Amino acid sequence: MTDEINMIKSPIPEHLAIIMDGNGRWAKQRGLPRISGHQQGVETVIRVVDACVKQGIRYLSLFAFSSENWGRPRQEIDALMGLLTQFLASQRQKMLDDGVRLRVIGDLSRLSEPIQTALADAERETSQGNALTLILALSYGSRDEIMRAAKQIARQVVEGDLDIDQLDNKTFSLHLDTGDLPEPDLMIRTSGEVRLSNFLLWQAAYAELYFTDVLWPDFDAAELQKALDDYSSRKRRFGLTDEQLQALEEKTN
Ligand code: IPE
Ligand code: IPE
Ligand code: MG
Repeated sequence: MTDEINMIKSPIPEHLAIIMDGNGRWAKQRGLPRISGHQQGVETVIRVVDACVKQGIRYLSLFAFSSENWGRPRQEIDALMGLLTQFLASQRQKMLDDGVRLRVIGDLSRLSEPIQTALADAERETSQGNALTLILALSYGSRDEIMRAAKQIARQVVEGDLDIDQLDNKTFSLHLDTGDLPEPDLMIRTSGEVRLSNFLLWQAAYAELYFTDVLWPDFDAAELQKALDDYSSRKRRFGLTDEQLQALEEKTN
């Protein structure tokens, strides 16, 4: 509860999650191949990471590739994986200089060996970064993540390492890929789609949602500011009444 009250009082989200959508449509509008939209999308990622560091946001989760995106044409998947590899190589020094710590969530076993290695190296090398934790969701889907957590828990119960009556929300959360991370306070989706597409379904139970028509390649610091301004005007209640919240806030002051 104290964590929640901290979030009520904070004008800036501690954890921002973004569903980066609209790369393909951005390219199509310009008569370009979809991959050009993804290339431009990487430029936006670099811009938005900078903006988040400047804003003092502590955690930024980016939905980069979903478990369902494996169904896209092979050529597009390969191009996306190529962009990821380039991103890791080109941003390594900058992440170290800026105190950005990289974390990856998702079913990484489906990624190629070289990419798995590059991700593990980047996570290790940037592990001391203490400005921003950048969480890349790759081969990620909430249902898949929840299933994997459920299987881990079932295994522990069967092996006698966990008493089923000890299982609660908190323990369950620890088995998710995001086990050690705070829950998102604000979730942004670009490109005008108004759905979560299997992103952080458990974790975003009380996230504020913000949708914009801007396509991801066109998203920038000014668009981020609009979302943050909107967020700061929201009233987060977590199921309580205004009066209860006020009493809690007075108590914590
Ligand atoms: C988001 O852009 C990036 C990924 C899903 C990898 P899209 O590729 O989904 O772009 P649209 O939705 O087709 O415009
Ligand atoms: C969600 O975008 C996944 C990512 C942003 C990586 P999609 O473009 O795949 O989502 P849908 O298919 O429109 O729901
Ligand atoms: Mg899309």
